[in-house]
Amino acid sequence: MIRTEDLTKDYGTGRGIHGLTLHVPKGTIFGYVGPNGSGKTTTIKMLCGLANPTRGTAKINGLLVNRSNTRKIKSIIGYLPDHFGVYDQMTVWEYLDFFGAAYKIGTKVRRKRIEEVAELIEATHMLDYQVASLSHGMHQKAGIAKTLLHDPELLILDEPANGLDPHARIDMRNTILRLKSIGKTIMLSSHILPELGAICDHVAILEKGRLLIHGTVAEISSKLKENIALDIVIDGDTEAAAKILKAEKSIKSVNVSGHELDVEYTGKRAGVADLNAKLIKEGVRVLSFSEAKVDLENVFLAVTGKKDGPVVKASDPV
Ligand SMILES: Nc1ncnc2c1ncn2[C@@H]1O[C@H](COP(=O)(O)OP(=O)(O)O)[C@@H](O)[C@H]1O
Ligand SMILES: [Mg+2]
Repeated sequence: MIRTEDLTKDYGTGRGIHGLTLHVPKGTIFGYVGPNGSGKTTTIKMLCGLANPTRGTAKINGLLVNRSNTRKIKSIIGYLPDHFGVYDQMTVWEYLDFFGAAYKIGTKVRRKRIEEVAELIEATHMLDYQVASLSHGMHQKAGIAKTLLHDPELLILDEPANGLDPHARIDMRNTILRLKSIGKTIMLSSHILPELGAICDHVAILEKGRLLIHGTVAEISSKLKENIALDIVIDGDTEAAAKILKAEKSIKSVNVSGHELDVEYTGKRAGVADLNAKLIKEGVRVLSFSEAKVDLENVFLAVTGKKDGPVVKASDPV
């Protein structure tokens, strides 16, 4: 659905986005993640044909994004900008009707379309609300409804969950999953990976305008698992247990907190059980011994180097 090749926007300050090569398959949810200023919006604008690349290409559904394809590209993409104005004095219905007219959808079809879209994203109850009275979550939903009016195949949502409270975030997650279930491809950006990362099939992590890592969540996780993180809970002297572990060549680090040990192990998976056996043999009372789950938050922290942990080099293929 999306394919970029060396896509670059250089603002002349070294900022922007550099050499982005990406592929997003149809029907998937793609999370585009990076801290503020890492180049997410710049990329999205180029994908939508709203900014010209300095170098490289972007294709949407096989169609090169350029000036002569703008109209076709717009019909394929539903774009929700990071900040968008709504007209306060309108109801949500009027707002959607206004944009439906702008998309040149005829009056009769438009009415039906607004109802369908509202039902799809569970926004029917708010159609008569005054836009000025909407909560932030409802405001975002009205924006998504607008992007769906022309029935685009691809939705590009720039930080859709930014500033939402936990409840509205769950609602947003469900909305996105529902859109996937009817066959849409969804690209969403976020500066907080765990925010929506859990629903993504595919993730790309950016920093300072460069792609750090790109792949399915499972691929990225297994890459990180070259170093295995272990959670060990001890009944008794944790420091003594830490000392035993630290003496092992395969142990990279041990952090003690209370009765728990956070252990970073490098080596064959089969060796993990030997560690457990060794602790027990030395008289350590092991309450639990398990492999820490690699969650997306840890992936993000590890690849952006914000936390000690299994580090993936930018050059590593996944
Ligand atoms: N029009 C512009 N001119 C110059 N620099 C820009 C422009 N737009 C964005 N930038 C810079 O490019 C970088 C990436 O910005 P942006 O794509 O908005 O990041 P993000 O969406 O990830 O927060 C930032 O350092 C920003 O200051
Ligand atoms: Mg942005």
